[in-house]
Amino acid sequence: MALDRKPAPNDLRAFWMPFTANRQFKQAPRLFVAAEGMHYTTHDGRQVLDGTAGLWCCNAGHKRPRIVEAIAAQAAELDYAPAFQMGHPKAFELANRLIGIAPEGMEHVFYTNSGSESVETALKIAIAWHRARGEGSRTRLIGRERGYHGVNFGGISVGGIVNNRRHFGALLTGVDHLPHTHLPGKNAFTRGQPEHGAELADDLERLVALHGAETIAAVIVEPMAGSTGVLMPPKGYLERLREITTKHGILLIFDEVITGFGRLGSSFAATHFGVQPDMITLAKGLTNGVIPMGAVLTTAAVHDAFMQGPDHMIELFHGYTYSGNPIACAAGLATLETYREEGLFERAGEIAPYWEDAVHSLRDCPHVIDIRNMGLIAGIELEPIAGQPTKRAFQAFLDAYDKGLLVRTTGDIIALSPPLIIEKAHIDQLFGTLREVHEDRRRPIVGLDPRDGEDRPRRGGRQQPPDTHRCRC
Ligand SMILES: Cc1ncc(COP(=O)(O)O)c(C=O)c1O
Repeated sequence: MALDRKPAPNDLRAFWMPFTANRQFKQAPRLFVAAEGMHYTTHDGRQVLDGTAGLWCCNAGHKRPRIVEAIAAQAAELDYAPAFQMGHPKAFELANRLIGIAPEGMEHVFYTNSGSESVETALKIAIAWHRARGEGSRTRLIGRERGYHGVNFGGISVGGIVNNRRHFGALLTGVDHLPHTHLPGKNAFTRGQPEHGAELADDLERLVALHGAETIAAVIVEPMAGSTGVLMPPKGYLERLREITTKHGILLIFDEVITGFGRLGSSFAATHFGVQPDMITLAKGLTNGVIPMGAVLTTAAVHDAFMQGPDHMIELFHGYTYSGNPIACAAGLATLETYREEGLFERAGEIAPYWEDAVHSLRDCPHVIDIRNMGLIAGIELEPIAGQPTKRAFQAFLDAYDKGLLVRTTGDIIALSPPLIIEKAHIDQLFGTLREVHEDRRRPIVGLDPRDGEDRPRRGGRQQPPDTHRCRC
């Protein structure tokens, strides 16, 4: 009997895929089997241009020799060292290298394994920091509508994306939210930072008046909100948040899981915008997405408040089995070296104007209602299909994949964030393909695709028989 239950290795049913339309996927699987530079190879042997650096993480592109070699060498030398009460040299070396490129004021590094864990860590440090300084009443956390801070309970509590919150109960108590900064009526088709919306930061004064500053531990925001669909900070907004948090003794946390490591054309968003937070959360580009790793950067003021009491006592009761894992540290060091050697942060800044012109050339495409960009990021907002939110963008994602391009969608927004090694020819290909995807939907079609009831070219190739649950690789 047990043998009967054993699925074939290529059966698709057992793996419950994250943030995926599982049933749709398993009817028409999209599998990557290799990657190099700017491209993925699919299971059916096609090349797909990576318009999203994987999931905003492979900033140096794929299969980078230095990183591959560092991981192999580290695994052969020291595979694991206990993270608590023990150390290994590369954890210290990477921390120092990170501080070397970190924004002004950042002096310490706490390792995690993901962006979600970095967020939980930063929120916990914020609350514990006030307590360590005798302000134990400061426990309230302030996030922002449409914010994305990962998927753990702290992160979804301060986060502001409704589908990530509404299924999961009461979440953390003592959390409030600033308004989001998306003002399409005023800022549509802005290049770079929008003109309007700095005053939205003043809402923090309202929350202070409502709750009392002495109850608020921290404000956490993404300096550029990525996962909600690419929202740039309005001019002056982050500066105002900094002013108000400082005035009321509230810590300011920048979640730079996406904006870290060159995405905006500078090492970090804090550097890019010239605003100094108290903590920065990182992950993704830290190891080029190759090995799970995250980190929280803190100022000396945050760190030093914990360094009290007897020497033999643990100062912060927090950490993970894999905090500072040797192979992750080796990957991190090789990644930072690759960024440095190839000047990738500067490169992103240099090619950004070409990227900007290319994305805004799609302005006249059907259903495009907004385009926004900065560094090597762009968001293309589509008019939702009436009564079927998210479907238009999802269809564009599928069509783009058919045409050899990987994009990411969130709601009805296409989000683009290619590896920083992207060349002009790739940019032309990327936006040429997206134009085709949009134009295809304008053409009158003979025969409608039964999936959506919209004009849509029928194509062979992608669709598998709906009852298949086997990977065809
Ligand atoms: C700003 C931000 N914070 C946190 C996270 C969560 O990171 P992870 O998926 O590694 O937990 C993400 C992921 O996209 C993110 O964009």
